[in-house]
Amino acid sequence: MSTFEFHTTKSIIVERDAALNLAARVQAMHCKSVLIVTDSGVLGAQLLDRALANFELQQIAVSIFSEVLADPPESVIYAGIAAAKAANADCIIGFGGGSSMDVAKLIALLAGSDQSLAEVYGVNQAQGPRLPLILVPTTAGTGSEVTAIAIVTTGENEKKGVVSPILLPDIALLDARLTLGLPVAVTAATGIDAMVHAIESYTSKRLKNPISDALAKDALRLLSANIHTACEHPNNIQARENMLLGACLAGMAFANAPVGGVHALAYPVGARFHVPHGLSNSLMLGPVLRFNMSEAEALYAELAQVVYPAASGTSFRCATMLIEFLQNLPAELGIATRLRDVGISKRNIPALAEDAMKQSRLLINNPREIQLNDAIALYKEAL
Ligand SMILES: NC(=O)c1ccc[n+]([C@@H]2O[C@H](COP(=O)([O-])OP(=O)(O)OC[C@H]3O[C@@H](n4cnc5c(N)ncnc54)[C@H](O)[C@@H]3O)[C@@H](O)[C@H]2O)c1
Ligand SMILES: [Fe+2]
Repeated sequence: MSTFEFHTTKSIIVERDAALNLAARVQAMHCKSVLIVTDSGVLGAQLLDRALANFELQQIAVSIFSEVLADPPESVIYAGIAAAKAANADCIIGFGGGSSMDVAKLIALLAGSDQSLAEVYGVNQAQGPRLPLILVPTTAGTGSEVTAIAIVTTGENEKKGVVSPILLPDIALLDARLTLGLPVAVTAATGIDAMVHAIESYTSKRLKNPISDALAKDALRLLSANIHTACEHPNNIQARENMLLGACLAGMAFANAPVGGVHALAYPVGARFHVPHGLSNSLMLGPVLRFNMSEAEALYAELAQVVYPAASGTSFRCATMLIEFLQNLPAELGIATRLRDVGISKRNIPALAEDAMKQSRLLINNPREIQLNDAIALYKEAL
């Protein structure tokens, strides 16, 4: 076995109604003033209401920053840092999907350190210290609560990542009740994003290791077995809990054995056309997996056994079953299936492909090398 390292969030709490105990968690960290970082959708869904009452009882001051936008731009991070300073916050809570959690990570980091946002882009540039940080996911998708990454949209349509173990929160708190009201389209797209995390981690050319493999397999098992139920019966708490846990396990896996080509080609779709992260991954999934078959067939066949425990036959047949399962999901769950459904046309492809080539951080993990002409062909196939 080759040498490897594995890092994750040190406390992970899985508890229905855990949100009610948020104030007690903050109290236990000896903090007196929290900034809750969220977006208008989460606020509108009234998910914070019950949590807030208990802060008053514990005499902990609470400020809410709800200006997070999907695929957060730099301006949102600056506004959040200002809000944290104005509130004299000594604890940050990220409460929402990947966008809110990523913004919370960066506010916690930059409100407590002398570095600027520009100085922390890239790998291991952040020096800290950061403020105490609790992350509470309300989508079952990104796994951001267990990843050492925060993603920011810079300028018009480029994304940059801050990657540092300092970004792992002190506590990840998984309360499936918070996901019961998640709209079907968001449930489907974020759930597929989580599956892509598991699959790309399992087939990662770099840093794949036995712990990430075990997590990726169990994540895919939970996600594939529950995504239909979660979409068709949104109030099924058991299915929601399995999705939330599956997304978290997939997050642990890809935080250590990173994602590849699907994400590299999905990012430009999200950045240029404001397509939600999960949906853009879902749109590129089929073409990239088929492209990877020549290098990853055996690994896809292993994953097929997770989705279909009775799968048998050649490795090609099993791998194809996995790809078909994933390829059929968007139509079955009622979300867009083609790039043209989200306003992309043939003339957009050269720019998308050029942007994808800039995602070298991700492309190096893909089991098969993707060159510019491959990227063009993959976007054409997804059109
Ligand atoms: N840090 C990481 O490891 C990582 C990994 C993948 C993606 N990302 C980033 O995460 C972001 C995507 O996150 P996401 O897919 O979770 O979406 P999101 O956070 O953008 O949320 C999507 C929408 O769902 C709404 N919503 C969230 N929870 C809800 C609930 N329980 N009920 C009703 N509405 C709810 C939000 O208001 C929002 O409108 C992107 O910015 C992406 O770049 C980060
Ligand atoms: Fe993702």
